[in-house]
Amino acid sequence: MSMPTNPFPTSLEEAVAYDLADPLADVRSAFLVPDEVTYLVGHSLGPATNLSLAALRDTTDIEWRTGLVGSWNSAEWIDMPSLLGRQIAKLIGVPSDDVVVCDSVSVNLFKLVGALLRERGSDARIIIEAGEFPTDQYILERLAQQVGARFARVACGSGTLAMENGDILVRSLVDYRSAEVAEVRQMEIDAERKGGTIVWDLSHATGVIDLKLADEGARFAVGCTYKYLNGGPGAPAFIYVRHDAIADLQTPLAGWLGHADPFAFSDTYEAAEGVQRFVAGTPPILSMAALKGALHAFDGLNPCDVEAKSQRLGDMCLSVFSRLGLQSPSPPIGQRRGGHVSLIHDHGYAVSRALAKRGIKTDFRTPDTIRFGLSPLFLSYSDVWRALEILEEILQTNRYLDAEFSVRLKVT
Ligand SMILES: Cc1ncc(COP(=O)(O)O)c(C=O)c1O
Repeated sequence: MSMPTNPFPTSLEEAVAYDLADPLADVRSAFLVPDEVTYLVGHSLGPATNLSLAALRDTTDIEWRTGLVGSWNSAEWIDMPSLLGRQIAKLIGVPSDDVVVCDSVSVNLFKLVGALLRERGSDARIIIEAGEFPTDQYILERLAQQVGARFARVACGSGTLAMENGDILVRSLVDYRSAEVAEVRQMEIDAERKGGTIVWDLSHATGVIDLKLADEGARFAVGCTYKYLNGGPGAPAFIYVRHDAIADLQTPLAGWLGHADPFAFSDTYEAAEGVQRFVAGTPPILSMAALKGALHAFDGLNPCDVEAKSQRLGDMCLSVFSRLGLQSPSPPIGQRRGGHVSLIHDHGYAVSRALAKRGIKTDFRTPDTIRFGLSPLFLSYSDVWRALEILEEILQTNRYLDAEFSVRLKVT
């Protein structure tokens, strides 16, 4: 079935027509979202899939229960960081040996930027833009204090402008508030011209944006796997280092599984070949099993279709927001953006709680932003259209002003 001719649906009928022509429609059945829920929070925690739960079961019931310690070899547990890294490499557009899965984004930033600082020497500065995701700011400011490096927090959008020779800029590829997408190729050219380096945070990009990092000249990145990759709560993160940039990088967390020959049990550290050196300790196999299963959802998908669908869903939301007179900080209709759109509302928290009561799960970022995550693998156009109809009803009836919706939960 061919795609409808409108650039994005503007009615329920058109949304249904888009669903019928959706090349991703078959993937939806792998996801275990409760029937009564429209899950618009895949940008925060992707849902479980049949395959992630089956992989977890195999790992606990067969590999752990029966295989016991032998599974480090027989089930290739020991190679999971690089085996999963290969899968993620495909999704971010880099050679398969340049990615490893380990630790969290926070820890990986510490290790990677720590290694870069050591390589660059004492003149290097860490640069971060104001409003960047908090953990990136906190980890890097503290790292700079610890090693006596200079740290600069510059205005949002001015990271490469502020760069001087040797500087390291840490930058989200997709902004967690607005979903604005960075111009990777141009920023890499600007950074190189100034003798600087960019470390990309791909947390909001991987699995929803058609990433071609190698072609665009990116050399360093970290990212999480629990959002659009659906790896599960607290799933481990990844590190990408372009192979020609690894030689002089020494991680500040030199652990035994980043050693060239861990089972030699040598007293002194010698870094493993390649990006494997960034693995510090024993991999969390149960979390990795869930991630391994979850990544199968991407088998055979065209990343271009994935990005195009999330873009279209975003355009559809923005056109409804605009008809309702609502403000959004997200890039406007037709402009590239990540997998969510944000809505500004004075009573944003209460609106998101009122939506939740009707089965529409969104999230809220203080002070006034509701995020609508538009994961293209498990949401249909008509799901999102119906959610927008409920949003309209809640706003028009002022239902969100009910007292029950103002009570703040710990996690918003
Ligand atoms: C851009 C970005 N970086 C980092 C993180 C979190 O990192 P960690 O996996 O260390 O909790 C998030 C979490 O939402 C994020 O959005």
